[in-house]
Parts: sequence; C-alpha cells; structure tokens
Amino acid sequence: KPPLRIGIAGLGTVGAGVVKLLAEHGRLLSLRGGRPLKLVAVSARSKAKKRDIDLRGVRWEKDPLALAEASDLDVVIELIGGSGGIARQLVRKALASGKHVVTANKALLAMHGTELAELSEKKGRILAFEAAVAGGIPIIKALREGLVGNKVSRLYGILNGTCNYILTTMRETGRDFDVVLAEAQAAGYAEADPSFDVDGIDAAHKLAVLTGAAFGCQVNFEGVHVEGIRRVTSMDIQFAEELGYRIKLLGLARETRYGIEQRVHPCMVPLEAPIAHIEGVFNAVVVEGDFVGTTMFQGRGAGQGPTASAVVADLVDVARGRDMPAFVVPAAQLAAKKVAPIGRH
Ligand code: NDP
Ligand code: HSE
Repeated sequence: KPPLRIGIAGLGTVGAGVVKLLAEHGRLLSLRGGRPLKLVAVSARSKAKKRDIDLRGVRWEKDPLALAEASDLDVVIELIGGSGGIARQLVRKALASGKHVVTANKALLAMHGTELAELSEKKGRILAFEAAVAGGIPIIKALREGLVGNKVSRLYGILNGTCNYILTTMRETGRDFDVVLAEAQAAGYAEADPSFDVDGIDAAHKLAVLTGAAFGCQVNFEGVHVEGIRRVTSMDIQFAEELGYRIKLLGLARETRYGIEQRVHPCMVPLEAPIAHIEGVFNAVVVEGDFVGTTMFQGRGAGQGPTASAVVADLVDVARGRDMPAFVVPAAQLAAKKVAPIGRH
C-alpha cells in the first residue's frame, strides 16, 4: 500500500513528541497501520529554534496553511493550539481540501467541534482527536467503540493534569501554588496560557468534548459551569484530609430531566473512592453505562509521550482507513439532545 503522507503543524511539546514517536516506531507502525507512515512536511513559527528532533528530508512550510492545500499530503496534524485563528483556519481548510485531520486541540473542538465534525463528514474525511481529552488515556475510542452499546447516564473525572499535579504537590510538600505551577509549565503539562488550566477552562473544554462523545449531543462549552483551583489553599487541602476527603478538580456530566448537566469545580472526594488516589499528572475518567456498569480509565493526562501516543493512535486509524463519525453518532444527529442550563439540576 502507498504510504500515509503526513504534515504536522506545530512542533512544540506535542508536535516534537509525535515526530520522535514516528521515527522510533516507524516499522511497528507500518505493520499496525498496514502501510508506512511518512512524515512529509512540518510547520511552526520559528525554523531556527532548537527542537531535538530529526527533520532531515522533511519539508519546512513557513505558512502552516500551506499544509492544508499541499497535494502531497493525506493527513494534517494540527498541534498549534487555540480555539480560533490559525488552528481553526488550518483544520477547516485541510478538511475542505479533502485531507484527514488529527488534532489535540480541545479548545478548538469545544468551540467548533460540531461544525468541524459536520464538515469532515460532508467531505468524507476523518476528524480524530483522541489526544484532546485526558492525554494518553484512550477515552474517546472507549466511548466511540468499546462502550458504544451503552446508554451513558453519567461520567466524571480528573481532566486536567496541571491542576492535579498542583493539588497533589501542594498536599505532599506544602509548597506554594505559584512555585508548583511553574514546575508543571516546565514539564510541558500546562497550556500556553496556564490560566486555562488553573481556572478550570481546559477541563471544561475537555468535558464539553467528552459529553458530545458520550451522550451523542452537541458540543456545548457555554453550557459548562466552570470554577478552577486558584482559591484552594494548602490549609483547605489539609483540613479536607483530616475530614477524610481529598480535594480534586473534577469535570462531571450527567443526564437530568432538563438535559445534560455539565460542571467543572473543585470537589471533596472521599478517601475511599479510587479517584481520590489519582495523583500528579495522572487523569482518570469514570463512565457509567446501563449495561457495562461503572468503568474507570486512568493514565497520564498531559506531557509529551502520552499525548504523542494518542495522536499516533489516531494516525494509525487513518492509515487503516477506519471510517467512524467524529463523535458517537453522525454529526447531523448531534443536535438531538439539549444541554441543561447552568444551575438547573
Ligand atoms: P506548544 O506551545 O509547546 O507548541 C505549539 C507549537 O505551535 C509550537 O511549535 C509553535 O511554534 C507553533 N505555533 C504557534 N503559533 C503558530 C503560528 N501562528 N503558526 C505556526 N506555528 C505556530 O504547545 P503544545 O505542544 O503543548 O500543545 C499543542 C496542542 O496540543 C494544544 O492544542 C494543546 O492544548 C494540546 N495538548 C497539549 C498537551 C500537553 O501536554 N502539552 C496535552 C494534550 C493536548 P514555535 O515552536 O516555533 O514557537
Ligand atoms: N494543560 C493540559 C493539562 C494538557 O494539564 O491537562 C493536557 O490536555
């Protein structure tokens, strides 16, 4: 079979990880995808930046939008970030030009997921975003495939690695919020603007995408109640422990008689609950389905390796030619369920 020809826009933490993974596991991925996965072109802001990746033989495009129209590419991976601007233009243009798209961009999907899913289906192309939610945990695939026979009544989880790292480290070391946040940034966990992490917005983006995939409803970020961890102090964490609870930033979505309720806020989780013991950069997602019962998925929720792992899983799907709706049902049917207004539950 001819190779799957890949273009990558964005060579930061995640983009560089994908380049490394493709180089290191090239043979294995060819076998698993049924054809070679060939990196043809890349783009980022600065060509001069040192990146610790081997780009010999790979074309450099000054303008990422050139990847969308390049005739020698089958798939574009968007790893720039941001809910609008260049990332949105790139994804739209790539799909419109008949390319498959893989992205890790939850902000983009939370704002424009339904519209992009519609465009991908209209064009008969794959829009895949496993890396957008919970880093290395294959939760989108689980909802779209392994759990697809169930009606999901509720899901909840730790969806932001930076916040979980901060809460864990504050509890274990008593160090200040700002110092620990700087560590998470240095480790490549945080968003370009870390207020997205600590104010709960990133978790809310992911929750909106998860809700769409789990309940087959439109992605609705506006319908998420959002509260972050800025006001959680070391003292709060200690008092919670003394009372038998651990403070976690959770995202929760469930069916109510008003529609799907979505919220993100710090929670007092009883120490007996397994999710109370998900620490550091780890994420966890609990899904309750009518036939399967309760399932829990856990793993690293951010960072170079885990995120690259999820991006490459989507690439292998594209190489195999697996034709699935972006969410759990075709995009045109995503409108069927409404989202509960904030505060009505
Ligand atoms: P980085 O900030 O590390 O990398 C962003 C990349 O995009 C850089 O290579 C940058 O170029 C490039 N870029 C930025 N603006 C432009 C532009 N206008 N034109 C061309 N290139 C541009 O981000 P991450 O790798 O951490 O994140 C990428 C995406 O993955 C985001 O959507 C993020 O939310 C998501 N994500 C991140 C995870 C993580 O753990 N870091 C986990 C899961 C998802 P240059 O290098 O030259 O500055
Ligand atoms: N900033 C995000 C986090 C990256 O900390 O979870 C993974 O999506």
